[in-house]
Amino acid sequence: MAFSDPLSSDWEPLLGAAWEAWSKAYAPYSGFRVGAAVLRADGAIVPGCNVENAAYPVAQCAERTAVCAAVSGGMAVGELLALAVVTEAPVLTPPCGACRQVLAEFAGALPILLANRTERSLCDLRELLPRAFTGRHLAR
Ligand code: THU
Repeated sequence: MAFSDPLSSDWEPLLGAAWEAWSKAYAPYSGFRVGAAVLRADGAIVPGCNVENAAYPVAQCAERTAVCAAVSGGMAVGELLALAVVTEAPVLTPPCGACRQVLAEFAGALPILLANRTERSLCDLRELLPRAFTGRHLAR
């Protein structure tokens, strides 16, 4: 798997699933659709979209929807291998701070491909959330 290359064809199934989820986003308040897809260690691809609410702060981001669905399906810590995030925004959309924290619960190094209809950019969770607070910090 070549997730270190943003142009690798290995990203295509993840991007396809993320765009499919994007089309299902529930974003009547912001009008900002986000699609995500995570790759599990067993090869399963799990999609997620943002799900907004009339009580605005209750909105759930696409990335967290995907991670929660993957965990609900049995994904364990360390089994999160890659993430794709898609929007139609001209500026590529990185995971918000809360999503970075949730991702850090399940992965250390994590290749993340940000994409819109014309561009893509690869980053890693370690650069998005350096020195993440994790369960190991709770050890006494
Ligand atoms: N959103 C995501 O789903 N993921 C992100 O990485 C950034 C923001 C959603 C939350 C809300 O539904 C909408 O985008 C506008 O903030």
